[in-house]
Amino acid sequence: MNDNTEKQDIILKVERLEKHYQLEKVTIPVLKGVDFEVRRGSWVALLGASGSGKTTLLNILGTLERHDGGEIFYESRPYSEMDRARQVTFRRDNIGFIFQAYHMLPELTIMENVQLPGMFQGRNRCELRSRAEELLVKVGLGHRLRHRANELSGGEQQRAAIARALINAPSLILADEPTGNLDSKTGAEILEIFQRMHASAEHPVTVIMVTHDRSIASLANQVIELRDGCICEENDLTDRGIK
Ligand SMILES: Nc1ncnc2c1ncn2[C@@H]1O[C@H](COP(=O)(O)OP(=O)(O)OP(=O)(O)O)[C@@H](O)[C@H]1O
Ligand SMILES: [Mg+2]
Repeated sequence: MNDNTEKQDIILKVERLEKHYQLEKVTIPVLKGVDFEVRRGSWVALLGASGSGKTTLLNILGTLERHDGGEIFYESRPYSEMDRARQVTFRRDNIGFIFQAYHMLPELTIMENVQLPGMFQGRNRCELRSRAEELLVKVGLGHRLRHRANELSGGEQQRAAIARALINAPSLILADEPTGNLDSKTGAEILEIFQRMHASAEHPVTVIMVTHDRSIASLANQVIELRDGCICEENDLTDRGIK
């Protein structure tokens, strides 16, 4: 692989990333100079103790929060150059979020929940409906299309959340402990669906998944561990020929 090809293959580059929170007069440093790179199409597990800054990092990568120092490059374009309006379209068009608590709108049917990010993109209603249905069938919810989100089990809501994250065909999926609220059997099913969809997507999808579970992390190509605001471990399993 020549230098150029290698550069094109990096979807996300994080350099000396810093983030702190200010509580009255107290400054709480959370990220103290985090560096890592993510290759397009890879599956990254983000580990770290509670309070180590995993959600903060994911929110910053997803442009839900601003960083205070350093830089993030998405396909070589710096985040700091995006204004608020650009952040919204960037997020809508490139990023899919999956949260531990699902965050489905309870009064809407799952078809409506899944279509929502596509509506913000102004897509054709008919095409959007058939895409949502296709995704919901793929995650095993073809028999629940007209159910409201609050009429579904946790595992079913998380499946629907995977479909919702994929509706705009994002290049990057940010998942914050997506199996954290589920029993281990349901969690394993969700991961399997997720992996299957990752493998079968029409274009390479990169996944960054927060987990506390090292057995889940062992499924990843790359493991990043946050400790004391820094990356204390980064294993690229692809380089070691494991994946
Ligand atoms: N809005 C905020 N204001 C002040 N401090 C915050 C804020 N959000 C997070 N923090 C602090 O930043 C640190 C990192 O929080 P974060 O939620 O990123 O941790 P985490 O690694 O996701 O933890 P968990 O595994 O429990 O979800 C914590 O000490 C937290 O108290
Ligand atoms: Mg968290």
